[in-house]
Amino acid sequence: MPAKGAQHVAAEAKIAEPAQPAAASGYPRWTVEIDGVSRTYTDSGRSVPALAAVSLHTEPGELLAVVGPSGCGKTTLLELICGLQQPDTGAVRCAPAALMPQRDLLLPWLTAVDNAALALRIGGVPRARSRARAAALFAELGLDGFEKARPHELSGGMRQRVAFVRTLLSGKPVLCLDEPFGALDAITRAEMQGWLQRALQREPRTVVLVTHDVEEAVLLADRVAVLGARPGRVREDLHIELPRPRARTDAAVVALRERALQALGLGPAGSERHAEPVASEPLT
Ligand SMILES: Nc1ncnc2c1ncn2[C@@H]1O[C@H](COP(=O)(O)OP(=O)(O)OP(=O)(O)O)[C@@H](O)[C@H]1O
Ligand SMILES: [Mg+2]
Repeated sequence: MPAKGAQHVAAEAKIAEPAQPAAASGYPRWTVEIDGVSRTYTDSGRSVPALAAVSLHTEPGELLAVVGPSGCGKTTLLELICGLQQPDTGAVRCAPAALMPQRDLLLPWLTAVDNAALALRIGGVPRARSRARAAALFAELGLDGFEKARPHELSGGMRQRVAFVRTLLSGKPVLCLDEPFGALDAITRAEMQGWLQRALQREPRTVVLVTHDVEEAVLLADRVAVLGARPGRVREDLHIELPRPRARTDAAVVALRERALQALGLGPAGSERHAEPVASEPLT
């Protein structure tokens, strides 16, 4: 039986019929559609509602960022998208999706390059070819020279890049990234954000990015969904049409960040909270 990490990497969502034409990159560019989804965990007689009536969707090739307080169901949402769980009510429709889990889950006994090539190996690609494809991305992501390092010999940022390469090489058109830059210092985090944008320019995908960092969401995303405290509901669905690259000091970026923070009850007013979801007009 494969290790838990391998199961996550190989996770397949329910596959919708291809509704979109293939992108220039050759990857089909499908959307993620989440309609009225609720999910309650029931363990040992205890009932924990994690998500309530969540509806979200992405356009093909969009980056949807999901922000919200700890425990509001963000990981649950990604697992629903990847087909690792089923909703209690509502529907999730999306193309095959790969999950980069909240912890990198690199396998300690494999080298960095073999960890990165894991999804290819699971998919039946021969070892030498898998390694060559992973190694090519290593060079581009500043990991060259560390191909044979074990995970414990890598920094946190390097481990996250290896985990991202593994997710990218799964070849799935939808990537679900669960706090990929969590626990990184500000400098490394900024580097990783730039690197993610370049990687997606090179290999376009539809991305659902979970983050605690509202500014990161506004800098990277086409849409930002702000979830409220458990059970998570959509408080704001911000549509961001600012050109890239975006500067954190840009007035429009600052305004959007404040708006998202306010939806979280963390704005200047502090106590302002929307009881109902608010879908925004595109902001430019
Ligand atoms: N397998 C599970 N069994 C029971 N309860 C669970 C399970 N997974 C998550 N939960 C509960 O569901 C709620 C949402 O969890 P989830 O991990 O989706 O939150 P999250 O928004 O990702 O949190 P964080 O930001 O801390 O990662 C939490 O209250 C959690 O305790
Ligand atoms: Mg989580």
